[in-house]
Amino acid sequence: MEKKFLSLEFVDKVFPLPNGKEYVAVKDVNLQIKKDEIVSIIGHSGCGKSTLLNMIAGLDTVSSGGIFLNNKEVNGPGPDRAVVFQNHSLLPWLTVFQNI
Ligand SMILES: Nc1ncnc2c1ncn2[C@@H]1O[C@H](COP(=O)(O)OP(=O)(O)O)[C@@H](O)[C@H]1O
Ligand SMILES: [Mg+2]
Repeated sequence: MEKKFLSLEFVDKVFPLPNGKEYVAVKDVNLQIKKDEIVSIIGHSGCGKSTLLNMIAGLDTVSSGGIFLNNKEVNGPGPDRAVVFQNHSLLPWLTVFQNI
C-alpha cells in the first residue's frame, strides 16, 4: 500500500462565539491523501472548507484530533505547505518584501 502523505484524523474545529456559546465548524474529519494525489474539497458555502485548509496550512489550530504530514504533526505554518487565499491578503502600504 502506498504511504500516506497527509493524514487528517478526527479533526474538529470549534469557534468560541461572543455570546459565550460555541460553534462547531468542522467535526470528525478523517482524510488520507497520498503524495502527488490531487483532492478537491467541495461543499456549500460555510461548510468548513476554508477552516479545514487553514488548519492543514497551520494558520489555525485544531480543536481536537490531529493533522499529520509525513507522520509529523502539523502545529504551525511551514514552507512545505502553501495556501492561495480566496481574497487578496496583501497589505498595500507595504512593499512586496515586507508583505512576504
Ligand atoms: N473565526 C470564526 N468564528 C466563528 N465562526 C467561524 C469563524 N470562522 C468561520 N466560522 C464559521 O464556520 C463555518 C465554516 O466557515 P468556512 O470554513 O469559512 O466555510 P467555507 O470555506 O466552506 O465557505 C461557517 O459557518 C463560518 O461562519
Ligand atoms: Mg471558504
